[in-house]
Amino acid sequence: MRVAVFSTKGYDREFLDAANEQASHELLYFETRLTSETCSLVQGVDAVCVFVNDSVDKVVLQAMAEAGVKLLVLRSAGFNHVDLKAASDLKITVVRVPAYSPHAVAEHTLALILALNRHIHRAYNRVRERNFALDGLLGFDVFGKTVGVVGTGKIGTVFSRLMSGFGCELLGYDPRPNDECKALGVQYVQLDELHERSHIISLHCPLTPQTRHLINRESLARMRQGVMLINTSRGAIVDTRAVIVALKSGRIGSLGLDVYEEEADLFFEDLSDEVIQDDVFARLLTFPNVLITGHQGFFTREALRNIAETTLTNVTAFAEGRKDYHEVTLNMAKVG
Ligand code: NAI
Repeated sequence: MRVAVFSTKGYDREFLDAANEQASHELLYFETRLTSETCSLVQGVDAVCVFVNDSVDKVVLQAMAEAGVKLLVLRSAGFNHVDLKAASDLKITVVRVPAYSPHAVAEHTLALILALNRHIHRAYNRVRERNFALDGLLGFDVFGKTVGVVGTGKIGTVFSRLMSGFGCELLGYDPRPNDECKALGVQYVQLDELHERSHIISLHCPLTPQTRHLINRESLARMRQGVMLINTSRGAIVDTRAVIVALKSGRIGSLGLDVYEEEADLFFEDLSDEVIQDDVFARLLTFPNVLITGHQGFFTREALRNIAETTLTNVTAFAEGRKDYHEVTLNMAKVG
């Protein structure tokens, strides 16, 4: 199949080309994001392949349908950036990579927790300046702390296993509790109780209409003073403005983000010569107890290889008329 691949970096091409040695599709790489402004590029292709910050709304899907595109291939597990209703109406099949490495994201979550708690981001800079003072670097033992896991699917389960290894008490919230987590000692509770009891709260649920701004002024007010909040899931699960208020009051003691609700205009690009226009994001960068990474949770060799292989396996299955691709259905968006 002829596939237009959007939002590609050198590393995407490297892993996709390697996977394509078996699959032999024609891959047309575009560095640009897919948006209503760039969707004319889909002329003459059979399938369109996108990443998390491509915007696959109704206008883009209509352009795809008019160009005869039948398949939308997501190089991600999350599908909140796709108008699934429009895709279904236009008879465009949507496929994704349901699991490529839950370890990659869970381990990155742990990296954020440990770095924030022991102020590694500050210590690194201090030592380079030959400032060996410890004031401001005080942390806590993770051992024995209560960790709230919101969303105990694939990533939440691996994360729970890591935290159980640290000797933490585990609380979980998920409309679909899973037995593996229960066996790890995760105690399922209501969301309010999780907010009230946890020293560390980590978000691993998908972004859906139900989870948008799940962390908001009211939920923050329930949390322990000085709670550590970590979001490696999707930015809009957190109301960033409410979080800034909670950081200023000390309700949030430290914040680790790998995702941000307005990340599409920022992440994955080198903007070091530019003035950031997003004042909310700029404010977040001023806090010493905030650590932000630019959506790199997935970024391991193993994950990129799995993403590339599943992406092309999905395309091949569709091209050969088989049904064993990983389809995203309208019902999946209603979970939660
Ligand atoms: P998954 O589908 O295995 O697990 C998601 C879990 O969230 C499910 O158990 C589901 O029942 C639960 N859930 C649904 N609605 C909920 C709600 N209202 N409250 C609490 N839980 C709810 O997905 P997986 O693979 O664990 O990924 C989780 C999320 O991580 C993805 O949706 C994606 O947004 C994010 N992600 C981030 C990456 C990164 O690079 N930072 C990379 C990959 C995924």
